Amino acid sequence: MKKILFVTSEAYPLIKTGGLADVSGSLPIALDALGQDVRIAMPAYADLLSSLGDLPSKRINQAGGAVEIFETKLPGTSIPVWLVSHEGAFDRSGNPYLAGDGKSWPDNAERFALLCRVSVEIAMNRMGFGWKPEIVHCNDWQTGLIPALLEDEVDRPATVYTIHNLAYQGLFPRELFRKLGLPQRFWSPNSLEFYDQLCFVKGGLVYADRINTVSPNYAVEIQGKEFGCGMEGLLRERKERLSGIINGIDEEAWNPAADPLIPNPFGLGGMAGKEMNKATLQQRFNLAVDKEIAVIAMVGRTVQQKGIDLVIEALPKLMDLPLQLAILGSGEKKYEQTLKHWNSLYPDRIALKLGYDEPLAHLIEAGSDLFLMPSRFEPCGLNQMYSQRYGTVPIVRCVGGLADTVEDASPSNLEQGRASGVVFHEASAEALLQAIMRALDLYKLKPQWRKVQRTGMKKDFSWKQSAKKYLDLYGLAVQDRQGKGNRTA
Ligand code: ADP
Ligand code: GLC
Repeated sequence: MKKILFVTSEAYPLIKTGGLADVSGSLPIALDALGQDVRIAMPAYADLLSSLGDLPSKRINQAGGAVEIFETKLPGTSIPVWLVSHEGAFDRSGNPYLAGDGKSWPDNAERFALLCRVSVEIAMNRMGFGWKPEIVHCNDWQTGLIPALLEDEVDRPATVYTIHNLAYQGLFPRELFRKLGLPQRFWSPNSLEFYDQLCFVKGGLVYADRINTVSPNYAVEIQGKEFGCGMEGLLRERKERLSGIINGIDEEAWNPAADPLIPNPFGLGGMAGKEMNKATLQQRFNLAVDKEIAVIAMVGRTVQQKGIDLVIEALPKLMDLPLQLAILGSGEKKYEQTLKHWNSLYPDRIALKLGYDEPLAHLIEAGSDLFLMPSRFEPCGLNQMYSQRYGTVPIVRCVGGLADTVEDASPSNLEQGRASGVVFHEASAEALLQAIMRALDLYKLKPQWRKVQRTGMKKDFSWKQSAKKYLDLYGLAVQDRQGKGNRTA
């Protein structure tokens, strides 16, 4: 059994803005099921804290103010969660990262540096919890300073750093480096400096014992210029320490046969519920209720990464095809506004809900025929896996985790019973349109269509294999640390 401190900036169902929360709320459960002692540290965001009522807590003085750590459990489990609270850092309502105007909170460097420092205190067993992890598992830039700060500690745990999205790097002006009081030796291109800026991600990439990403394909892609976001050289240098582990999904939360968020359960044993869900979805969105027409869905952040601009560019031609579109998302205002405009032009063909709506995301997965993910890059992606589980055939671009989890409906894959979606290559509106037309052709050929649906529904997207791979990775990180001769007092 290993003791693992899992540090994250969000975890479902406590707080979620995207896939990181899904992973942080399900991987620890899978590790727990493998008999590991895993505990989570994350910020005590104001809205979260007030929703949890009275919790026991401990106080320490840190970073010039009082830090209070509240203790709770990941809901429905016995996994301990430490919520790090600090006056001025996390005690504000709203999005964890963004202010009301959609821009990053101006003090994000200070806020997440604090999370990192307090996590180091927990990791070094200086918080009075009587527990010291062998592994600290860090996730994304918000936790990037942890491996760097642990460098100066004696008899310290090993570190694993998971890249969920390399495009978000935690870059801040040089003044912040001074303001945060980080050791001067960290100001170097071989350390936390990135072209005269402080870069949180580099704390993980330079100092973690092991680095991984959330799909094998993205682990290769980020070693090249196109997807490396300027970190490709460093990642190539550390490639012996870099690997890719595909995300699993929470098979209880995303189970079409027992999903409390959908009106009609269904599964491989009977698909009638899916047809009824389609009608519910069409009604809910004021689309014409028609079981023959293909409903194509999209759920996600309306940002360039997700290829929303490609969808918008393809819309005029898409409206000549027999399909309905159901879109749920939020993100960049310019895309939101364009989508609103198209929704007003074709209210019975294009349904749109702007904002974040977890129950609606489940209904969309359950009631749609096809699911669009034309991402420019996609470290893993979760919705293509949810879609396959719900018999909703994904149309994906051949990048990152999408390439690792969807098998194209090519003639040979169809023949061998492997096809589970439609995969296209070029990041262009035309290539997307061709893929959608191919999917609509498949949709018409009912026996083949059913086979593709069933193939997706039968696939194993559970955490079982991937959680074991994380355990192996933790073992390697501990070995690496021992090999480096962990300093002892
Ligand atoms: P990313 O983390 O890059 O946004 P993922 O595919 O890994 O993409 O995960 C996104 C997660 O967030 C999925 O669980 C998806 O259903 C959910 N999600 C994204 N946008 C919304 C939204 N507007 N409403 C409800 N759920 C959403
Ligand atoms: C990031 C990525 C997404 C991935 C998620 C969870 O948000 O954009 O592809 O699925 O993290 O690892």
